[in-house]
Amino acid sequence: MKKIVFVQGSPRKHGNTRAVTALAVESARRCGAEVTEIDATELEFKVPGCLGCQKCQKSEEFACVIGDSVGKAVATLPVYDVIVLSTPIYWWSYSAQLKIFIDRIYSLNKFSESGKHRSLLAGKKLALVATGGGPVENNLELLEHQWKNPADMLGCSFSSCLFPNVTVEAGRLVDDPAVAAKAEEFGKSLAV
Ligand SMILES: Cc1cc2nc3c(=O)[nH]c(=O)nc-3n(C[C@H](O)[C@H](O)[C@H](O)COP(=O)(O)O)c2cc1C
Repeated sequence: MKKIVFVQGSPRKHGNTRAVTALAVESARRCGAEVTEIDATELEFKVPGCLGCQKCQKSEEFACVIGDSVGKAVATLPVYDVIVLSTPIYWWSYSAQLKIFIDRIYSLNKFSESGKHRSLLAGKKLALVATGGGPVENNLELLEHQWKNPADMLGCSFSSCLFPNVTVEAGRLVDDPAVAAKAEEFGKSLAV
């Protein structure tokens, strides 16, 4: 049974990103996966993101020394087989709320000056669900690379489910049967 975590980065509780993600989550569960959801927009943090203090690199532990909710949630990631980020594209990138979470993932890695690198995420699957008002080209594809490039570096596989040109009202994207089918198929692909 696959253990999957979805990390939600959309600030809109009834928006389109959460709507398509909910379908992917349900589908993965129907296919037998154990799914956990983390709402990155609700996590408390002492500092917004990584301080660059490098204390996680000097310690043998793989944990962020800032003992807040963001750090504690990030520390749970190694138990999952699949880590899915879900976000609207904001300014050609993740939402800021999700970026705070992502930067702390540094603490799950040990980087050395020799270029050697150890990661608790090695061998997992990293995945992305993203919606955007504009196209894939020169827009959502840039966001996709921001999770695919780390996946490549960490020795992880990668897959994505992108919803470009979203112009419908909040939450109505899933009324389109083709969109709903795409989200459900993606959830299934993560579970098997
Ligand atoms: C602050 C902000 C920045 C945005 N930047 C982009 C962008 O760079 N590219 C794009 O295609 N859409 C952009 N959008 C549109 C959202 O990505 C799009 O409406 C998305 O589907 C919203 O998801 P939600 O319904 O979950 O909030 C932006 C929206 C906001 C509010």
